[in-house]
Order: sequence, then C-alpha cells, then structure tokens
Amino acid sequence: MIYADANATTPILPEVLDEMMPWLRDEYANPSGSHSAAKRARAAIDRAREQVAALMGAEPEEIVFTGCGTESVNMALHSFDALCGHGAAVISAIEHSAVLRCAENFSREVRRVPVGAGGRLELQAFATALEGAAFVSIMAANNETGVIQPLREVAELARASGLPVHSDAVQAVGKIPLDVREIGVDLLSLSAHKFHGPKGVGALYIRSGLKFEPLLRGGGQEAGRRSGTENTAGIVGMGAAAACAARCLTESGISQATSIRDVFEKRVLTEISGIVPNGDPANRLPNTSHLSFEQCDSAGLLILLDEAGVACSAGSACMTGKQKPSHVQLAMGIPEIRAKSSLRFGFSRLNTLEEAHAVADALKKAVEKLRHVQGPGVGPVVVYSA
Ligand SMILES: Cc1ncc(COP(=O)(O)O)c(C=O)c1O
Repeated sequence: MIYADANATTPILPEVLDEMMPWLRDEYANPSGSHSAAKRARAAIDRAREQVAALMGAEPEEIVFTGCGTESVNMALHSFDALCGHGAAVISAIEHSAVLRCAENFSREVRRVPVGAGGRLELQAFATALEGAAFVSIMAANNETGVIQPLREVAELARASGLPVHSDAVQAVGKIPLDVREIGVDLLSLSAHKFHGPKGVGALYIRSGLKFEPLLRGGGQEAGRRSGTENTAGIVGMGAAAACAARCLTESGISQATSIRDVFEKRVLTEISGIVPNGDPANRLPNTSHLSFEQCDSAGLLILLDEAGVACSAGSACMTGKQKPSHVQLAMGIPEIRAKSSLRFGFSRLNTLEEAHAVADALKKAVEKLRHVQGPGVGPVVVYSA
C-alpha cells in the first residue's frame, strides 16, 4: 500500500516505537507511586513534557497530557465555557467536528465566522464577531484542505478585545513551525498520532497563569488539570515524536515534504484534465493536496485507488461513509457537485518521490476509468467493481 492519508493519521516512527516499548512491557508502574519504579515512570513523563513543550515554544508546566486531540479540544472549550461569563463563542465555519459538536452543547450563542474562497478565515468578519463575545476558538490549519489560518492576527484581535483564544492545532503541530508565545494563544490542542506518534494520546497547552476548569476530575494527575492514570508509554511516544518533529521542522525538512506533494500535484494537474485544486495555495500545509475531479464521484475514485493500493480520503476521515458534502467545502463556496468529487491526499516525510509518482499514475487511471464508465453529461456515479 502507498499511504497518502497522513491528515487522517500517520505511521509511528520506528524510533518512537522503540522508546515506547519498555514502558509497555517492563516498566508498568503507576507514575503517581512513591517507589523507584514509579519515579522512573514519572521521570519519563517529565522528559516527554519537556519534548512536547520544546516543539511549540512552551514551558513544560504548560503542557497537560490527554487521551487525544478531541479530548484536548473538549477540555479547552469546557474551561472557557465555565469561566468566561456571558457572551458568544466565536469559532470558524470550518472547524473540525471536535470543536463544532462541542460548541453545539453550549447554552450560549455560537458565532461561526465565514471563510473566503481559499478557505482562510475572513478577518474583517472575525473582528466584527468579537463584539460582545466571551472567547474564541479558531483552528491553526484545516484538516481537509490543509489551509493555514491567520492565527497570529486572530490572537492579536482577540487580545485587543480582552478575549482568550484556543486553537485546535491538531493538523498544524509537527507539520509547520508553531510557537505559542509568538502567536499569543491561551490554549492549544494537539494530538500525537498526527505527527508520527501513537494514537490515544494528546496534549493541551495551557498558558501559564490562565485560570482553568478541568473537565475530568478525580485523582488530580497533571497538576489537577486532567485526572486519570497517565498513559506512560503513549506519553513517552508523544515526546519522542515531538523531538523527531522538532528536528525535521527545519527549512530543508519542510521543503522535502512540499516537494513530494508538489511533484504529485504538478503531474496530475498537467496530465489529467478537469481538476480543480482547492485551498489557498500560498497558505497550505506542506503535505496536503485537496483536489476536485470533474465528472467523478469521490466515492468511486476512492474504491479504484484502493484497488490500486493507494490510501487517501474524500474530505476528512470523519466524513468518510457519509453522503453529505463536507461543511468545509460548502463554507468555501464550492458547489455541492464539486464538493462530492473531491479527494484529499496527505503525504508525510515517510513518503518518497517514487510514491508520489505512483499515486499520480494510479489517479490518472482511476479518473480515466470513471469518466469512461460515466460518459459526459451524466451526473456523478459511484463505480463498485468486483
Ligand atoms: C483539526 C482536527 N482537530 C481534532 C482532531 C481530533 O484528534 P484526535 O483524533 O486525536 O481525537 C482531528 C483529527 O482528525 C483534526 O484533524
């Protein structure tokens, strides 16, 4: 299989797995204990906290380990909702369902700020939405299109209005450099499995001095901010993945990821007719390519690509299997028919240029086959081959 679905999840790096193994096999002590084995687990967690903090310019005490990105988002929004008094919650129209579903539960007003055709937040509309608001949650980069949001400007405008900001940075962390102090956010969510760490472990950055209301109460782990016995192996894996990501986030590391994506895109755009790339090309994650294919249904393309040994997605992983076009594409003004013909390719540093070419070859064949079956003037059809 050629894996081109890195926005859904990424494979664990071998060196990350190596670091995790002792904590799964031999070192099983509860890090809250007082004996030597417990102290070793505690020290391993502390080291991972430093590694994760270093990836984003935070202090180790500002990092709280969680069970996933979704939990981090829920913790952040729960705390704001509990502590921020009256006023609206301001989010974007293209947030991940972790933010959207959580915000639906608020009894307060939720303002969804629109994005432009390129998938970037409309800053003027955002500034207007801050009037009478209580807090802000804007994602750092979109999971479907990869479009990077103007987070620094968002934080500046919110700060000028005295409002705290959370950012769902699950897709951005590890893919682009990100410094919480430079940006000026109060809370930031991340997830290990998006940057070659294990699944089932995430983190929430909580700015030092910010009042915080925990969602999970119990044994008081993570300085009372997230109770529950720590997932030592997962946390060690997240720390190791963060250290690897920090090393790779050099200019040459980013341009390597970009060149794999760009080789793929250049080939498909020149060799296949009727493709529209989606998302602001000047502000995209280096690994993401989001394309619409005239006269092709994304479900049909996914099947043909899967048969050819290529893994990618239609929209976000969470939308797969649902017939509705993605809210992200609709928010960008993409017509429904085009939204249902879009695929997302997510490359990672584990992909090779040869793989980028192989994905382009497979895609070319799949599009040709689907268009041949379908014929011009006929609406999109789903092709189920034997
Ligand atoms: C932008 C964004 N936020 C949140 C999440 C949820 O993260 P997790 O899978 O760790 O719960 C995802 C996962 O796809 C995501 O892409």
